[in-house]
Amino acid sequence: MRAKIIGVGSALPEKIVTNDDLARIVETNDEWIRTRTGIEQRRVSDDKTATSDLAIKAAAKALKKSGLAANQLDLIIVATTSPDFLFPSVACILQKELQVARAAAFDLSAACSGFNYALTVAANFIENGTLKNILVVGADTLTKYLNWQDRGTCILFGDAAGAVVLAPSKDDSGIIASWLKAEGSLGEYLTMPGGGSRDPEAKNGRFITMDGKNVFKFAVRALEESIKQVLAKANLTTTDIDLLIPHQANTRIIDHVSKKLGLPKEKVYVNLQKYGNTSAASIPLALDEALAEGRIHKGDIILLSGFGAGLTAGANIIRYSSSDYDKITS
Ligand code: COA
Repeated sequence: MRAKIIGVGSALPEKIVTNDDLARIVETNDEWIRTRTGIEQRRVSDDKTATSDLAIKAAAKALKKSGLAANQLDLIIVATTSPDFLFPSVACILQKELQVARAAAFDLSAACSGFNYALTVAANFIENGTLKNILVVGADTLTKYLNWQDRGTCILFGDAAGAVVLAPSKDDSGIIASWLKAEGSLGEYLTMPGGGSRDPEAKNGRFITMDGKNVFKFAVRALEESIKQVLAKANLTTTDIDLLIPHQANTRIIDHVSKKLGLPKEKVYVNLQKYGNTSAASIPLALDEALAEGRIHKGDIILLSGFGAGLTAGANIIRYSSSDYDKITS
């Protein structure tokens, strides 16, 4: 048995911050940010908005599209590294707010790889017959953890949430292969030093710190490796991919890997110019937009691939059947 996506939804904060807006608070400029990252603007949540607020909106949309009632869900997994609290989890907040009476709920921490990790975990529960209907959300508000004086990081991130509902597939559609990895030895390249149990008072700062060059090197290597590995697991090659949805971090990373693998631009989905790097939300947000824009067709093979803090990487291949497609686009 396979797990297939039967509903997709996403949510964004309203406030848009452009590169020119950032140039007013830190020494940078629109041209530098566009050429080095591809980012033109990002969404930033206000003080009253926490990660669960965006997650609830995205999840409610995905649930509505799936045609399932909230009480039919067996499990909620939220991939996030910016939860409202250390506990309760964002997943438990969703369980309460969406009135998902009987679902178990937990958060999963794999940073920007979180959605691929959560999708893989959820698919396994369905494939082995343990659970039936699962809500998987990727949600982050990393702009709350940016040092707005650090031009190497504050230009990169934005806030968002994306969600999918998974159910058992009765045909050959669904998640056909998954691949995950971690390289904890490289963890120091992208960290949030303060606020955890090693430094509960955040004396070391509650801000994202990053060695951009080394993260870039890992990202290029991990994106290529994850695509090759997951294709090998599915017994497919790059020519079988109809649409690659990579983690939306930097167009230079995406272009470099696409070129190396011989993937033409029309087979690669990019929306990071509008949203920056939205961490765990980036792939489900892109999937939602790709569907809305008609970029996904009946029977298409979609490859989702990402990398992030940890350092981590992961990928999933999805085959869309016509019945999924009709449901999602209706
Ligand atoms: N605006 C203007 N100049 C900037 C700048 C900014 N926002 N940020 C850095 N610079 C300057 C640097 O100070 C440096 O100046 P110098 O040569 O006088 O010392 C120069 O630009 C080059 O800096 P460098 O850090 O080498 O740039 P880069 O080409 O590596 O680009 C990143 C920086 C962050 C865009 C790039 O390393 C990157 O995208 N890394 C991956 C990050 C990522 O994706 N993280 C999330 C993973 S999930």
